[in-house]
Amino acid sequence: MTDDNHLSVLAPLRGVTIRCFRRAYAAEIAEAGFDEAVTPFISAMPGVDPLKDRELRGEKPEQSCCGKNIRLVPQFIGKDPAVLAQCLAAVRGAGWGFADLNCGCPFPMVRNKGRGSGLLKNPKTLEAMLKAGCETMGEGRFSVKTRLGVDSPGELHALMDIFNAFPLRYLAVHARTARQMYGGECDLDAFRRVLEAAKMPVIYNGDAQLFNLSAGEAQPFNFSTFQPFNLHGTMYGRSFIRFLGAKKDSAESLKRYIDMSLEELGHPSHVVGRIKELVAYWRELPVWRNRWPAVKISRSLDELRCAVG
Ligand SMILES: Cc1cc2nc3c(=O)[nH]c(=O)nc-3n(C[C@H](O)[C@H](O)[C@H](O)COP(=O)(O)O)c2cc1C
Repeated sequence: MTDDNHLSVLAPLRGVTIRCFRRAYAAEIAEAGFDEAVTPFISAMPGVDPLKDRELRGEKPEQSCCGKNIRLVPQFIGKDPAVLAQCLAAVRGAGWGFADLNCGCPFPMVRNKGRGSGLLKNPKTLEAMLKAGCETMGEGRFSVKTRLGVDSPGELHALMDIFNAFPLRYLAVHARTARQMYGGECDLDAFRRVLEAAKMPVIYNGDAQLFNLSAGEAQPFNFSTFQPFNLHGTMYGRSFIRFLGAKKDSAESLKRYIDMSLEELGHPSHVVGRIKELVAYWRELPVWRNRWPAVKISRSLDELRCAVG
């Protein structure tokens, strides 16, 4: 999709770009030209083995994401540097060469406890987490995904001296504040200021459109406005998910995902919830607009299969 020097990354979407999804849509992920996928966050908790987390269970680092030549990077969320170091040592010991820190989760329950975007409000903890990450994974092997700030878009910029002190692999910036959650405009001016201040490679994230949905074709996002700076790559989330629903064979691939989910989860009702969450992203698309109401009210897997068509 993009040139060799521009990294194209599949964003972590908890509940959506999960392990089973990455397997079911492996061909589409590869076809879209992604170089790398970041897992939805794994909690860095004392005494919990990250290798047993459902995101990594059964995944082999040397096979990369979905068995294709796409790097899979485990993402961690937490606020205790020692616990983070333990988790990273475990994944590194199992052959994972890269890892990522969630510094952007906007949910009040998470950030008010100092995790996710809450790290931006605690510079000392942030610094200790970056140190633990870079020391455990090694130079250029630990990345961070963050936001422009929690309350205001200048907060990340004000912390750049801290980020710049570490040999990060990259800094992926969702160009919104945590208060904005997932809506409202991305602030490209504030993003540009971070880019100018950053010593490490920077990846853009936030409403980047990889695809022309009406044509169902891949279309590179226009980053000409950032040309004077060294933009390392782009991370795409919801536009890729919507693209899957716009494809001609979207119902067939969804049926494959339903079957694989049933095999994984065993319980039909869990599959229904998972599939509804995915199809909700497609409800405005021509093919799914009519099917969505029936999908939404499905109470059983049989009803869901009927609604999918
Ligand atoms: C349902 C959902 C789950 C998400 N889960 C994560 C996550 O686990 N880790 C993370 O860093 N970001 C997470 N994000 C944020 C996305 O990775 C991304 O930053 C955001 O959706 C903006 O990019 P987009 O406009 O390309 O979707 C999540 C977003 C959504 C909508």
